[in-house]
Amino acid sequence: MKIVPANEANVAEAGARVRRGELVSLPTETVYGLGADAFNGEAVAKIFEAKARPRFNPLIVHVSDDRQAFVIAEAGERARKLADAFWPGPFTMVLPRNEASGLSELVTAGLDSVAVRVPDHPVAQAILLAAKRPIAAPSANKSGRISPTRAEHVASDLGDELATIIDGGPAAHGLESTIVSLASNPAVLLRPGAVTREQIESVLGESLSMPDATAISNADTAPIAPGQLASHYAPNATVRLEATDVRPGEALLSFGATTPATSGPTINLSPSANLREAAAKLFESLRELDRANVDQIAVMPIPRTSLGLAINDRLKRAAAPR
Ligand code: TXA
Ligand code: MG
Repeated sequence: MKIVPANEANVAEAGARVRRGELVSLPTETVYGLGADAFNGEAVAKIFEAKARPRFNPLIVHVSDDRQAFVIAEAGERARKLADAFWPGPFTMVLPRNEASGLSELVTAGLDSVAVRVPDHPVAQAILLAAKRPIAAPSANKSGRISPTRAEHVASDLGDELATIIDGGPAAHGLESTIVSLASNPAVLLRPGAVTREQIESVLGESLSMPDATAISNADTAPIAPGQLASHYAPNATVRLEATDVRPGEALLSFGATTPATSGPTINLSPSANLREAAAKLFESLRELDRANVDQIAVMPIPRTSLGLAINDRLKRAAAPR
């Protein structure tokens, strides 16, 4: 059995694993999370690999207190009020992302905003302190499965992907955190949870707007509808997929050791054809090629296996007519 008690040694080991870029199970008061160093793109890529998610959705970044939250995200008056009222707790805020903080682009799936939460669970807090860095964590279940509320659930779903699972006891709420976006005005309730709409409205002194019916709460149980996350990063340049050559005026996003000749701007997602490395670099590479002001980005074929499915899904969206 890989389930281990939440003692000092196991917590210290979990912190060390996070710093080494490995996955850890993070017991929280809502559901168990599958955590990785939010600053390390390849570690974050392992989350999508382990969950077998066919697409990249932005993840919640867990921090130990509001001071750390407002290093990775921008604080405003409303965010401070809500942080005072509901952190630590089952409450997540989507805020403008602080570009200088070093957060992996994969954590936010290329968005300019980031979802942050301060969990109210002694074991989650202890692991965050031991890791000494923010931990990105969606629920610790395979894509399409039910969120885990006990260490045993994590073991049965993701036992193969984790060295050990720290038993933090049954999750008190058993339901994912409430998510409010302050990245736009007015504030939007993106996902209902234990902190209620009424509580939030009373602290804010304004009413929350609701996302439209196609916008979903939990990307694990409902697919991201077209048009959801409208601010999702799309390059200004058009994108040509499955490219085996580079045309005049194009930038090249390549993959693998053998790449077509070009004198234009080019980035290789992974010279060794490693999908984890490619996933970690995808969003920042699209941005960087876009900054070169080319009309079109030619993208070499990327295998449709494992993380390649999510990479191809994102590229297809980037290439869709706008
Ligand atoms: O209770 C919870 O929040 C659990 C535990 C482990 O803390 N975590 C969790 O994380 O549910 P996750 O990554 O599965 O939930 C992320 C949700 C998704 O629906 C995603 O679309 C949304 O938050 N989200 C994340 N970042 C966002 C952003 N920048 N803008 C809009 N939505 C965002
Ligand atoms: Mg989930």
